Amino acid sequence: MSTIDQFNKYVMHSYGRYDIVMEKGEKRTAVDENGKQYIDFGSGIGTNSLGYCNEDWVNAVCEQAHLIQHTSNYYYTKVQADFAKALCETAGYKDMFFGNSGAEANECAIKIARKYSFDKYGKDAKRYNIITLVNSFHGRTLCTLSATGQDVFHNYFFPFMEGFINVEANNIEDLRAKLDDTVCAVMFEYVQGEGGVCPLDKEFVDEIFKLCAEKDVLTIADEVQTGVGRSGKFLAGDHFGHKTDLTTLAKGLAGGVPIGVCLAGEKCAEVLTPGTHGSTFGGNPISCAGGLAVLKKVNTPGFLDEVAAKGNYIREKLLKIPEVKSVTGMGLMIGIELNSKKAADIVKAALDKGLLLLTAKTKVRLLPPLTISYEEIDKGLAILEELLK
Ligand SMILES: Cc1ncc(COP(=O)(O)O)c(C=O)c1O
Repeated sequence: MSTIDQFNKYVMHSYGRYDIVMEKGEKRTAVDENGKQYIDFGSGIGTNSLGYCNEDWVNAVCEQAHLIQHTSNYYYTKVQADFAKALCETAGYKDMFFGNSGAEANECAIKIARKYSFDKYGKDAKRYNIITLVNSFHGRTLCTLSATGQDVFHNYFFPFMEGFINVEANNIEDLRAKLDDTVCAVMFEYVQGEGGVCPLDKEFVDEIFKLCAEKDVLTIADEVQTGVGRSGKFLAGDHFGHKTDLTTLAKGLAGGVPIGVCLAGEKCAEVLTPGTHGSTFGGNPISCAGGLAVLKKVNTPGFLDEVAAKGNYIREKLLKIPEVKSVTGMGLMIGIELNSKKAADIVKAALDKGLLLLTAKTKVRLLPPLTISYEEIDKGLAILEELLK
């Protein structure tokens, strides 16, 4: 039985997959079971931040696997402590909680926001609503689906959780009208990723921070996709000159092994107390070792400037292609709006030519590894340009 047949027999059909069996990867190139090579402009949806089999990352992960792979959160491990210190110092936060995915990181932020309000204002205040934005994406668990502001995800799984209010992105009036005394937090992506790589307006973000400060409402940045250097700065919030009370990270944080974290600033650092939250795999030592290798690379002087420069280079080249209507995003998170062709068709056709792309709504989306070279960029863009002729 072929791998695909075997897979389809034993694995639930919850994804629309391409008929490709990936076998290995090297640098920024994935290789399928037939030896066909693909330049990777998707990095496993923004996850393989250092590309495939980066030597330092592989060594860190393998050394940790040889040492101790898991202990449970009844005990401490040095690698967890080292990673937490490095991450909090890099991101500028006081402390953090370890989970395994973006959705889990967001659930943690939501729990902290509600408990913060409960602790400070009491149960009777009913201050538990969370404002999220139309067109947002926060995950696939029932709680994070309830938070997600896209109707397309809201089929089948009723009832959803109460306590989420959607505000139109960049609509300050809508925000002012809905941010009442029942709200404990505003949660947003600085650049809406799954929603089509749409950055928020600076004025709108400024208003979120202003209103939240006035009303003691927490700010939560979902930087699951935008974080860890993807935008050209460590956090996308650094472009806006703001720091949220809580920030969630996942995807690229550990270079391709599962992780999700919720970072907390001064205000929320002590909200979770023993027994209020947990995760068996959270802070897995192998993931933490991978994360340390990623942080070391991302913190190398000049690395993030290079990410930004490569993003600008790609943007400039894309804008010269007649079929490209507009280019959105930040750093190496890029959305391409096309004039007449369908993004999904381009992504499919690119596979034949040896290029991995993503879509985000009606756009082609690029999330290449942060370590991609100019040579690889040129090779990938040449394929894309040909397909857009
Ligand atoms: C902004 C954002 N938040 C949350 C998630 C959910 O992350 P995960 O799939 O790791 O649960 C995603 C995934 O695409 C995301 O882009």
